[in-house]
Amino acid sequence: MKKAEVKFENITKKFNETVAVDNVSCTFEAGTLTTLLGPSGCGKTTSLRIIAGLERATSGKILVENEDVTLLPATDRDVSMVFQSYALFPHMSVLENVSYGLKMINVPKEEFTEKSLETLKLVNLEGYENRMPSELSGGQQQRVAVARAIVLKPKVLLFDEPLSNLDAKLRRQVREDIREIQQKLGVTTIYVTHDQEEALAISDKVIVMNNAIIAQQGSPKELYNFPKTKFVANFIGDANVVKAEIINQNNNIYEIQLAEMKINIKSDQKLESSVSVSLRPEKITISKSPEENSIHASVNNASFVKKKTQHTHYKNCDPNYFILKILFGNIFNKSNSSCTC
Ligand SMILES: Nc1ncnc2c1ncn2[C@@H]1O[C@H](COP(=O)(O)OP(=O)(O)O)[C@@H](O)[C@H]1O
Ligand SMILES: [Mg+2]
Repeated sequence: MKKAEVKFENITKKFNETVAVDNVSCTFEAGTLTTLLGPSGCGKTTSLRIIAGLERATSGKILVENEDVTLLPATDRDVSMVFQSYALFPHMSVLENVSYGLKMINVPKEEFTEKSLETLKLVNLEGYENRMPSELSGGQQQRVAVARAIVLKPKVLLFDEPLSNLDAKLRRQVREDIREIQQKLGVTTIYVTHDQEEALAISDKVIVMNNAIIAQQGSPKELYNFPKTKFVANFIGDANVVKAEIINQNNNIYEIQLAEMKINIKSDQKLESSVSVSLRPEKITISKSPEENSIHASVNNASFVKKKTQHTHYKNCDPNYFILKILFGNIFNKSNSSCTC
């Protein structure tokens, strides 16, 4: 399949007074899966529709393989989109649904049938070609929608929250199917979701959006380990965000007082004296015997989560204590800059 780089250059989209996308520049690398992740209303769908040509940017440029497609209509772009609602034709069989796009561009019957059957095999729906959409499960309908998009061999494949109509267990399966197909074909894919777990699981790169702008972008690991703002730390994975004070600074090393504990953190940002520290749960260890440079705490609440017990509401300095030791964290100014310890 063809591979194409997609580029946003200062894209803005306004709907009357609403700025849905605000001067966004970013690159979707050829052959990779990039996710646009963010809360509802942050501009994800609008960005995707601009790539598809279903929405025209108010200003800025969109490039596909360095070609300016900003003004090209949707039908002239080599881009296919899979919608949240699947949008299958209910009165057509699976085969007719998948071959519809090829038929529309006058591919001969024998050829479009062969290509459609091949594509159904690729999405593990061999033998389902004569079923009607109503005779399929949600997951199977979604795979028909994927087959219908990839049978056209587009340069770019777009997904808008493709799993939202599926139950939790199926969601995991279908997201893995989508990733597998994307990797098999090597097609540039842009995937929209508000679900951080989904984004981290399947993406080469994640672009986190908030209020129409990019909050941060990077690989799933970078975003999880080095969030640059409190928003990203909270939005991606679980984070305990607590207040702390800077007590010393030596070049870019800051000494932080966090309850009774002192930790050294490195930062190239200028930090105010009162900061927020974000701590991932797995970077906090708990023990019952005293340890140096740790925090005394008691457990107010505990719940069983899969293999682990999740303790919540640590209370500082109780005689009946647990010891908390912090291995790694990120700190932020109230103005949202960051660094890592
Ligand atoms: N056709 C439209 N007309 C007016 N406002 C719109 C339209 N489409 C989207 N918006 C607004 O633009 C903002 C971004 O919407 P959208 O891109 O759908 O967000 P997301 O997909 O991240 O939930 C929202 O405030 C939304 O209400
Ligand atoms: Mg949306």
